[in-house]
Amino acid sequence: MMSINPYATLAETISPLAIQGFILAMLALIVIGTVVQMIHHKNVTYFFNNAKKAKLAAERELGVGEKTSVILKTVVHDIATTAELGAGKRRVAHVMGMYGTILFWVASVVLVFGYTGQGASTSTVWSMIWHVGAIMTCVGGYWFWLFLRVDVLAEAHPWYRIIKADLFVLALLACATTGLAWSYFQFSGYTGLGYLFLVLFITSNIVLFGGVYWSKFAHMIYKPGAAIQKNLAEADGSRDNLPPLADAPKQFGLGIKREQPKHY
Ligand code: HEM
Repeated sequence: MMSINPYATLAETISPLAIQGFILAMLALIVIGTVVQMIHHKNVTYFFNNAKKAKLAAERELGVGEKTSVILKTVVHDIATTAELGAGKRRVAHVMGMYGTILFWVASVVLVFGYTGQGASTSTVWSMIWHVGAIMTCVGGYWFWLFLRVDVLAEAHPWYRIIKADLFVLALLACATTGLAWSYFQFSGYTGLGYLFLVLFITSNIVLFGGVYWSKFAHMIYKPGAAIQKNLAEADGSRDNLPPLADAPKQFGLGIKREQPKHY
C-alpha cells in the first residue's frame, strides 16, 4: 500500500483535472485566510510598526552580509528545529509533526501534478514519502494532542475536551488519519469504506484550509517572521525596545529548576 499512489487509483474514476483543481482551491484558501487574518488582526501592521521603532533604537546598522548570516542562522537553528520549544518531548513531537506535514503536502502536489492521470508514470518513492509523511504527522500530532497539550499536561483537562484553539491540530490530524485510511481501504478493495474515507479526507482538508482565518494555521508563517525579527533586533542592539541585559552573571535562583506545574 505504501508504494501505491492513491491519487492515481482515484483518477480511474475521477478526472485528474478535478483533483488538481481541488489542490489549487486549497492553496487559494490558505492565501485568502492568511491575508484576511492579517488585515483583521492587524498583526502585520503591528509587526512593521514594531520593526520601525526598533530600527530607531538600533545601536548600529547591519550590513547585507551580516543580515543574511543572522537570517540563515535563524532558519537553520530556530525555525528548522523549532528551537523555541526548548529541549524535550514537546520539541520532538512538533518537529516530527512539522516535517511529516511538509512531506505529506509536497508529496501530494508532486503525485497529483506529476504522477496522476492517463499515461502518467508511477513513483514508488513519492508514494512512500506521502504515506511516511502522514504517519509522522499522526505520531507527532497525537502525541501532542493526547499527552503534551498544556490543557491536558498542566491543567488536568481530559484529552477529549475540545475548544476553538484546537481547530488546527485536529483538522491536521483528521487529514492525515483519513488520508491513510482512504489509501488503505482503496488499496485493499473495500470500495464502500474507501469512498467513505475519501469523503472524510476531502472534508478535513476543506476544514483545515478553509479554517485558516480562525485557526493557528498561520503560525507557520508568523513564527519564522518573528524569530528573524528577534534575532536581527539582538544583532543591531535594538533588542525589541527592551532594556539591555544586566552586566552580571545570569542567576535565576532555584525557581528556574522548579517542578512542572501539575498541582490539581
Ligand atoms: C508545516 C509547518 C508546521 C506545522 C504543520 C506545525 C504544526 C503545529 C501544531 C499542530 C501545533 C499545535 C497547535 C496547538 O497548540 O493546538 C503547533 C504548535 C506550535 N508551533 Fe508549529 N507547525 C509548523 C511550523 C512551525 C514553525 C516554523 C514554528 C516556529 C519557528 C512553529 C512553532 C510552534 C510553537 C512554538 C507551537 C506551540 C507549541 C506548544 O504549545 O507546545 N511551528 N505547530
